[in-house]
Amino acid sequence: MAEINLLKSLPKPKRNISNRNTEKTDHHIKISRQYGKEYFDGDRSFGYGGYKYDGRWVPVAKDIVKNYNLTKGSKILDVGCAKGFLVKDLVDLGFEAYGIDISQYAIDNAPKDIKNRLKVGNAKSLPYDDNSFDLVISLNTIHNLDRDECKMAIQEIQRTSKTSSFIQVDSYTNENEKSIFEDWVLTAKFYGYPNEWLNLFKESGYTGDWYWTIIK
Ligand SMILES: C[S@@+](CC[C@H](N)C(=O)[O-])C[C@H]1O[C@@H](n2cnc3c(N)ncnc32)[C@H](O)[C@@H]1O
Repeated sequence: MAEINLLKSLPKPKRNISNRNTEKTDHHIKISRQYGKEYFDGDRSFGYGGYKYDGRWVPVAKDIVKNYNLTKGSKILDVGCAKGFLVKDLVDLGFEAYGIDISQYAIDNAPKDIKNRLKVGNAKSLPYDDNSFDLVISLNTIHNLDRDECKMAIQEIQRTSKTSSFIQVDSYTNENEKSIFEDWVLTAKFYGYPNEWLNLFKESGYTGDWYWTIIK
């Protein structure tokens, strides 16, 4: 188990930290939690503000392969894969990658060449046998469940991974970061300081790696 910054090559999201409070309403939270068109390809105040394939995950895919010493034929699952861009980049590098996401819209709008590798489903109950994958990753997804469901999702990641797993979730390390996070958060239901997450990992029997998404 280790803390690893696997997403270090990803461009930082552009956020105007001072104006979130004025843009976030219960309506925004309700719509974004539907993970539909508005969340991915609607106005920025509902989520991504437009999410198209641009190759940003390629260096991350290479870092994942290197860090976990994956070899051609290694099987990887991305839990909360959105439109499957990371799955595509891993497949293009020669790996057996698959994805699952709760959003029918995201899967419908995935690149055509990898759509057959993606499923609509919930992280809290993965439709795969025990030890199905060499690596199971879940990036910025399981914090969208409440604490009990989040624990189920962590246990599912643990169950389906044969060797390695990696989870990245929302967190903060001081009161200032917490306040910025709480101004911004739309979809996350369970979040906390690193030690709160580490307690949940331990409680869930998780033996994989992790990292934090911190808005600064
Ligand atoms: C912030 S996006 C992250 C997407 C991608 N992993 C990334 O890092 O860019 C959160 C994703 O989690 C998905 N999601 C939310 N709740 C989920 C659940 N219970 N099970 C599976 N996917 C879920 C959403 O549809 C969305 O694609």
